[in-house]
Amino acid sequence: MRAICRWSLLIVVAMLAASPVVRAQEVGHEYIASKNCKKCHFKQYKSWQETAMAQAFESLEPGVKAEAKTAAGLDPQADYTQDASCVGCHVTGFGEAGGFTSVEETPELVGVGCESCHGAGGTYTQEGYMTLKNKEYKLADLVAVGLVEKVGEAQCLTCHNEKSPFHDPENPFDFEAMKDEGTHEHSPLKYPH
Ligand code: HEC
Ligand code: HEC
Ligand code: HEC
Ligand code: HEC
Repeated sequence: MRAICRWSLLIVVAMLAASPVVRAQEVGHEYIASKNCKKCHFKQYKSWQETAMAQAFESLEPGVKAEAKTAAGLDPQADYTQDASCVGCHVTGFGEAGGFTSVEETPELVGVGCESCHGAGGTYTQEGYMTLKNKEYKLADLVAVGLVEKVGEAQCLTCHNEKSPFHDPENPFDFEAMKDEGTHEHSPLKYPH
């Protein structure tokens, strides 16, 4: 009897260990941070790092961009890095599974990271999805677990909208121009998906 129990326990443990994909789906698609995209997308990563969005968290620190803050009616000396009415658009995955909570707990999720536009990568980067062994993954399989199919204007407008203190209604968001100026270097994909 005891032997049977031990075996069934072993089997359960083995099943859990062998099914990371299923477990991730059960808890929702978690954020894993831009540094986990770097090794396979080095060009995009390097060029993204230079953008204003990668550095967006610093804009919330006291004294940074003081003139712009004053002009927008904000206090240039205030610390907005813990202000919930600001951080949502200046970090990655605020309020979502595995997303930004505070700079102490989730320092790698400051700024507008890869997953802010492409979707939380906790599941679609696992085995069977977007890996070096599976370069010809089917796009639909990844989209089913959180990858944004084609990053377009809708993604941008989740932050580039009238809730931003710097929103300029005279100057509507121009997707093509802003994509070229502000996301990262683009190169065509090599494999069919
Ligand atoms: C282990 C390697 C690896 C990691 C890690 C990885 N990717 Fe990929 N990714 C790939 C490969 C391989 C392709 C297909 C490249 C091609 O066709 O040229 C790809 C394609 C993509 C595409 C294009 C999707 C399409 O088919 O339209 C996006 C967007 C992308 N990756 C984003 C990310 C993001 C964001 C992360 C981090 C959360 C990430 N990747 C992590 C290997 C990886
Ligand atoms: C709804 C999303 C959103 C919220 C909320 C938000 N921001 Fe931003 N913030 C943006 C966007 C988008 C930009 C880029 C400005 C543009 O291109 O329209 C920006 C730009 C900035 C800049 C740079 C301005 C410049 O001219 O260089 C600072 C500083 C800033 N935000 C601080 C704040 C502070 C402080 C708060 C809270 C009081 C805040 N933001 C709340 C989205 C947001
Ligand atoms: C998670 C929120 C978020 C998303 C999603 C987002 N942005 Fe931004 N973006 C910002 C913030 C915040 C800034 C201001 C950064 C700063 O200066 O602190 C910004 C700045 C920029 C800038 C720099 C120029 C400027 O006006 O300050 C460009 C270009 C830009 N974004 C393009 C895009 C495009 C294109 C998309 C969609 C593909 C997009 N953004 C999606 C939050 C976002
Ligand atoms: C502000 C939004 C935004 C952020 C942040 C962002 N991307 Fe993208 N990404 C895009 C857009 C827009 C495209 C082009 C989509 C299209 O044309 O289908 C794209 C395309 C891609 C592609 C397809 C190949 C290419 O070069 O166009 C890959 C791979 C990719 N991104 C990886 C990343 C990685 C890795 C990061 C973080 C280091 C990142 N992206 C951050 C918006 C973003």
